Amino acid sequence: MTARLDGPEKVTGRAKYGADHNPPGTVHGYLVLSTISNGEIEDVDVTAAEAAPGVLAVYTPMRSFPLNTPESPVLGATWVPLQDREINHWGQPIGFVVAETFEQARHAAGLVRVSYLERPALTSFEDGLDAAEPSGRDDEVVLAEGIESIEDAIAASPVVVRATYRTAGQNHAAMEPHSAVASWENGELTVRSGSQSTSMQANELAIALGLDVSKVHAINPYVGGAFGGKGRTATPAFLAAAASRELGRPVKAALTREQVFTATAGRAATLQTITLGAERDGRLVALRHDSVCTTDIERSFVEPTSHATSAEWYATPNMAVSQKVVPLNVPKTTFMRAPGEAPGSFALESAIDELAVELGADPIELRRRNNSAAPPGKDLQWSSKHLDECFDVGAREFGWADRSPNGRTEGDWQVGMGVATAMFPALRFPAEVEIRLGADGAVVVSTSGADPGTGLLTVMSSVAAESLDIPQERVTPRLGDSAFPEGGMSGGSTATASVGTAIMAAAAEVTDALLALATERGAPFAGEEVGYADGRIFGEGRSMTFGELLRELGRESLAVTGSSAPGEELDKHSFSSFGAQFAEVKVHSRTREVRVSRMLGVFDAGRIINPQAARSQIVGGMIWGISAALHEDLEIEGNGRTANGDLAGYLVPVNADVPDVGVRFVQYPDTLHNSVGAKGLGEIGTVGAAAAVANAVHNATGVRVRRTPITIEHLL
Ligand code: MOS
Repeated sequence: MTARLDGPEKVTGRAKYGADHNPPGTVHGYLVLSTISNGEIEDVDVTAAEAAPGVLAVYTPMRSFPLNTPESPVLGATWVPLQDREINHWGQPIGFVVAETFEQARHAAGLVRVSYLERPALTSFEDGLDAAEPSGRDDEVVLAEGIESIEDAIAASPVVVRATYRTAGQNHAAMEPHSAVASWENGELTVRSGSQSTSMQANELAIALGLDVSKVHAINPYVGGAFGGKGRTATPAFLAAAASRELGRPVKAALTREQVFTATAGRAATLQTITLGAERDGRLVALRHDSVCTTDIERSFVEPTSHATSAEWYATPNMAVSQKVVPLNVPKTTFMRAPGEAPGSFALESAIDELAVELGADPIELRRRNNSAAPPGKDLQWSSKHLDECFDVGAREFGWADRSPNGRTEGDWQVGMGVATAMFPALRFPAEVEIRLGADGAVVVSTSGADPGTGLLTVMSSVAAESLDIPQERVTPRLGDSAFPEGGMSGGSTATASVGTAIMAAAAEVTDALLALATERGAPFAGEEVGYADGRIFGEGRSMTFGELLRELGRESLAVTGSSAPGEELDKHSFSSFGAQFAEVKVHSRTREVRVSRMLGVFDAGRIINPQAARSQIVGGMIWGISAALHEDLEIEGNGRTANGDLAGYLVPVNADVPDVGVRFVQYPDTLHNSVGAKGLGEIGTVGAAAAVANAVHNATGVRVRRTPITIEHLL
């Protein structure tokens, strides 16, 4: 196992994130945000701001720069600031003040006077429910032969559980707030801004600014957390790039923590009704899941809870899922770790637990009964599924056999255990990687993809070393630069499978090319049978390292670009990572506070390339599950203002909230999915985790809380 290659840089502070860059002459921008939730800007008075010390420019919708709206198949449309006077949520970027120093820009931003034509705003999910709209995603329905409707199947079920669950909106709270430093030289733009894909960011900026993509250089080797919140290019990058073009100076734009809450995007709140019909032995007869989620007025994102869970997870002959949206005057919604699965699994896995209680069945046994060989109604079987083993290993290690259906008490504490299933689809994107073999024996592997803390950089060097049969120390991985071959994105838990497969393809190609060079007329192995192993070319009776060969041929290096893309495997199997989440909670009998006392997650994510990085991904996800279950709640006031838009009011777990979190992997490389055998584990760690906590709360107290976050008042 290799420790993180970027670890020393990060812990010593040598790693430079986007806003750490200060090209000579850098000036600073500060955002102005709206203070109404719906309406139009009537006028902006910038007189005082423009006259303030150090101010270079005040951009508003009245005096702006034109930006086009980027649109891509993966991300959809990305909002660009300052293009019209429309306000549709509180805290929307409506101005950008650029000054010589950050303090001068911030001071002047406070002098900008805005008058509005205000319209009534719809900010409450509850108030908007009656007017929920189609999401644009078709309902999915599977019915057994002879069954006319899902309700008929439910009516014919011996046992029925029907319940409605709510999950709170969440804000992206990555350690690195969204920021950008932009500079121009000879009509070409360089942007340093944390993102999940430098190539996608370069594309979005090129579209927005009307440039050929070859004129945009996005660089971000270090990203301080992303989780879906740095998929789409954020407002600071557009503003810094456009202002820098106008001013002829490098411009830095960095959001404050408070601004991140409204000037970027977060996770929708959801309301989900689940109906389970089952035989008395627990086998599902029918599964119905109807979801509604919030979204912003521009409908930036639909949180696909029903489609991502109930349409995929369990064997059931009858299934129906639907998804609606409620557009509100609230900050934008977007991808957040396990979009769909995270809140969807809270509802589905709580409902399965409710069914277990109703049947008097063990919750693990009930899940086993409904284990599926393929998604409901689909012909393509899972390529590799070891979910039962995850539950076996977890139950043994967690001491599940000691669980009583009514919990137990320990002094003043009620103690309970809960479980949940976790699933996240195994996906990959097309990716390209360059491998360069040097005459000095060193290897450089490059791709434009990003490492937002996932460990991708280290994974790249491992896979390259293994594929080239050389020690890892000889490999230098490089990423986070749009000048490198297009490496897909760190999103959808795809990066290892996408980039790793491309590295294997590139390694095979570069060794072929090497052997061809070795056997050319006049080359050291001309006319011989040759092979490659251990970093060497083996001929008839002797061998040379690739460095020796390249030197002998008078070459400095040999480079090839290899690529890989999802292909015919998609017609043969369904692909998913799987896991079993275990939680133990203690609920105080008088104060009713909930403490998570133990957690264990056991995952089938195919081959684990780097156990340390993998564990850290999963631990982060499981802690986020505690956070969703007990802490996070993006509270929007009636007027649309975020009531808790900072890390004082918006609760996330601190160390004292986080118990021992155990992680185990059952390792079955899935080479039906890709040649690396890795199925992806960035997101699955958080899936089911909140439900496991809620199910443990029920086991401890007998109280079923059908909403997140679970707080003291729900347990009185
Ligand atoms: Mo993720 S929500 O695909 O970064």
